[in-house]
Amino acid sequence: MTVNLLEQNHLYLLNKIEKESFAYSVNSSISRKKKLGQFFTDSSVANYMSTLFSFKKSIDKKLKVLDCGAGHGVLAIALLYKLVTKGYKTIELTLYEIDNEALKYLDDNLKLFKENHDSINFSYTIIQKNFILDNGSNKFDYIISNPPYFKLNKSDLEAKSMSYIVHGQPNIYMLFMAKSGELLTDKGEMVFITPRSFTSGTYFKKFREYLLDKLSLEHIHIFNSRKKHFKNETILQETIITKFIKEPSDNITITSSEDSKFLVLNSLKVKREMIIERGRNIIGIPSSKEDIEVLKLFSASQQTFRDMGYKISTGKVVTFRSREYIHIDKYNLFSSNQKSVPLLWMQNFKKEKLIFPLDSKKEQYIQNLDKTKSLLIKNENYIIVKRFSSKEQHRRINIGYIFKDKLPYDYLGLENHLNYIYREERQLKKDEMKLLGSFLTSKEVDQYFRIFNGNTQVNATDILNLPIPAELFKGYKCQE
Ligand SMILES: C[S@@+](CC[C@H](N)C(=O)[O-])C[C@H]1O[C@@H](n2cnc3c(N)ncnc32)[C@H](O)[C@@H]1O
Repeated sequence: MTVNLLEQNHLYLLNKIEKESFAYSVNSSISRKKKLGQFFTDSSVANYMSTLFSFKKSIDKKLKVLDCGAGHGVLAIALLYKLVTKGYKTIELTLYEIDNEALKYLDDNLKLFKENHDSINFSYTIIQKNFILDNGSNKFDYIISNPPYFKLNKSDLEAKSMSYIVHGQPNIYMLFMAKSGELLTDKGEMVFITPRSFTSGTYFKKFREYLLDKLSLEHIHIFNSRKKHFKNETILQETIITKFIKEPSDNITITSSEDSKFLVLNSLKVKREMIIERGRNIIGIPSSKEDIEVLKLFSASQQTFRDMGYKISTGKVVTFRSREYIHIDKYNLFSSNQKSVPLLWMQNFKKEKLIFPLDSKKEQYIQNLDKTKSLLIKNENYIIVKRFSSKEQHRRINIGYIFKDKLPYDYLGLENHLNYIYREERQLKKDEMKLLGSFLTSKEVDQYFRIFNGNTQVNATDILNLPIPAELFKGYKCQE
């Protein structure tokens, strides 16, 4: 067959798979799709993913290829075609799929591929078993996958079988990635399309540690528009493509495109240590030259908030658990020997200023009793960091100040949506607070946060691990 004809046949096959998958998906109930974690990849995304492999294995080698959670086979077929065009002649493909009804399509599509490529030595095996629970002993040179995404319980068999990477509630996709990593041959490569959550989520900490210890992250692709890359599916999560290789590598390439048409592809190359945070292995994803400059600025900093002795905790008052102790009115329901103290919410901080009391129907007081002591904090100087930002707020980090002398109380209650920064051994000084506050709300910190954190939540540990550029405290003398 001529090259042109091969390509035409390939495009025809991918087009056929895409159409069939679309029809299949439309006729499948939402609950069934959720149970299987079944969302089909567009052929343009499959093609793009296949271009990310480096194909370092010798073309004379018998290649072993895996697609786990194969669906109708779009990813495997895109990769197979790439391998054929690179000159590989002996390919053994393994596919895992548990959906009975998808198997017929998968088998038909692979038969068609085989017919189109009768000059190569190609064989395939479809394994109709749970990929995570199967004990196959094969290793693979190239793995491509769009794994199922859904949350598991810790007690589910899949989670139990890989408990060494489970920390909190696991998502099945991370088990697919970790297990695939275990099945790679030396210098093997795997390319996955998954939610972005594993790059920074707390529940993925053990998984990141495990995977980044075994493999090198070599490529990240992000889509600037959240919804446009699965044109036939409704995916609300931010999705990324990652490539991991089983050999040491210090550089990571980051590409971005608007959508699945990949018309304009921006590309950056960074050093591994610049985007993989020490300690929690959080993976930052810079997407512009300005982002790289910000990373350079921060990577030159030796000290974090934690190193400098600052502490950060989360407000302990969870209102639905403390209903009986919290009140709208200061004196309401209290006998004369009971005292109430302010209960501060996110709404109490406007443009960094504390406004108390608010003109509102919120419960603004909490009883100061032996029973509630563990929920209260001493009235001291604190920098408040809101844990969530609203859509209108253009910065991720929104702060406020509590100055001890502004509130005539010994204790305060802080609602659970607030974090507070303090030092254990001494009060924060006012000028020190302003210095840290203006740093936290700077454009650079906002950018740094966005690079490392895909969602809008600000966790206490995110702040503790934030590097503080040395210049910030240059010339500053804390007056005791
Ligand atoms: C997100 S879909 C991707 C399908 C196809 N690879 C694609 O990209 O269009 C994941 C597939 O994995 C299958 N699957 C779900 N759980 C599985 C498991 N434990 N083992 C093997 N396959 C599974 C689902 O039936 C579904 O077809």
